Amino acid sequence: MALILGIESSCDETAAAVIDSDGTSLAARIVAQRIASQDEMHRPYGGVVPEIAARAHAEVIGPMVAQVLADAGLSLSDMDAIAATAGPGLIGGVMVGLVTGKALAMAADKPLIAVNHLEGHALSPRLADPTLAYPYLLLLVSGGHCQILEVRALGDYRRLATTIDDALGEAFDKTAKILGLGYPGGPAVERLAREGDPKAVPLPRPLVGSGEPHFSFAGLKSAVMRAKQAGTFADADIAASFQQAALDCVIDRTRIALGVCGPVTALVVAGGVAANAALRGALEQLAASVGLPLVAPPPKLCTDNAAMIGWAGAERFALGYTDGLDVAARPRWPLDANAAPVRGAGVKG
Ligand code: KG4
Ligand code: ZN
Repeated sequence: MALILGIESSCDETAAAVIDSDGTSLAARIVAQRIASQDEMHRPYGGVVPEIAARAHAEVIGPMVAQVLADAGLSLSDMDAIAATAGPGLIGGVMVGLVTGKALAMAADKPLIAVNHLEGHALSPRLADPTLAYPYLLLLVSGGHCQILEVRALGDYRRLATTIDDALGEAFDKTAKILGLGYPGGPAVERLAREGDPKAVPLPRPLVGSGEPHFSFAGLKSAVMRAKQAGTFADADIAASFQQAALDCVIDRTRIALGVCGPVTALVVAGGVAANAALRGALEQLAASVGLPLVAPPPKLCTDNAAMIGWAGAERFALGYTDGLDVAARPRWPLDANAAPVRGAGVKG
């Protein structure tokens, strides 16, 4: 059996976990995990401030690793490897976690595994559901990323779609800001949307009907802003109409992707926005309509965590992939380096 220490610090959660790769259930696989959210520190600014994030990670990560090992009743010398997020993300934060991982690996003479944060999200459904087999179609929707990928095997990803402007979580966060719901906005928009009428506000569905499954949410966000400024709609109706429009886009785009991907075992959703119950419900229906199961990790595994990093590390370790202590932190690190750039797209991978 392999015991892996996972470390995550690429955005605004500091997290550490101990993973047992031989566990046959989610509960058995996550031996211990801890997460410290920085939400309170960033709230006054309405978004993540990179310098504050990096400093907070540095203060918390050392004691947290010690705590999580104590929770597990294990010591560093019991670990088979140390897996740390090496990107993509806010570079100051990534460096804190990666340097911590390197120091622990060096001190305990254990192999280091540099994990792509997106691979952590992409494989998190396999951590949650031991029966999920490659290849699967993955909708990866978080605050920084919005992609559809064919996950063929560990390290073999084909990107079928990406966003040409905002990520889906970003659209939720900006809508929350427009409605004065605070940060982070996704869960607040979802809560308010339950009290509103999803048909009350006419909003655009960018790119719906286009032949390639890419995403665009900038026009939807601007329309939400105009609806708020008009002063004639209730906030709950704006939230519900926004969520409906965004989900209509996601379902249409995912349907197109299902039509162009190779044979897959399941439709899978991961990333922070996969915690959204309305999205999960809509995807459930879409998957059933094409005879596939929907696999969605429990909401706590959808938002950033170290268990998914430890798990991706465990899958890599099982195949003998380890990294040198000179491995660099990467602000950008696409899962599919061969994906063609999308016309009109910004720099997001
Ligand atoms: O994966 P994640 O924790 O961090 C990134 O890697 O980006 O995703 C965070 C994003 C935020 O934009 C947050 O607003 C969104 O996921 N989110 C949600 C929900 N929970 C989190 N969006 C919509 N509905 C939710 N329930
Ligand atoms: Zn993430």
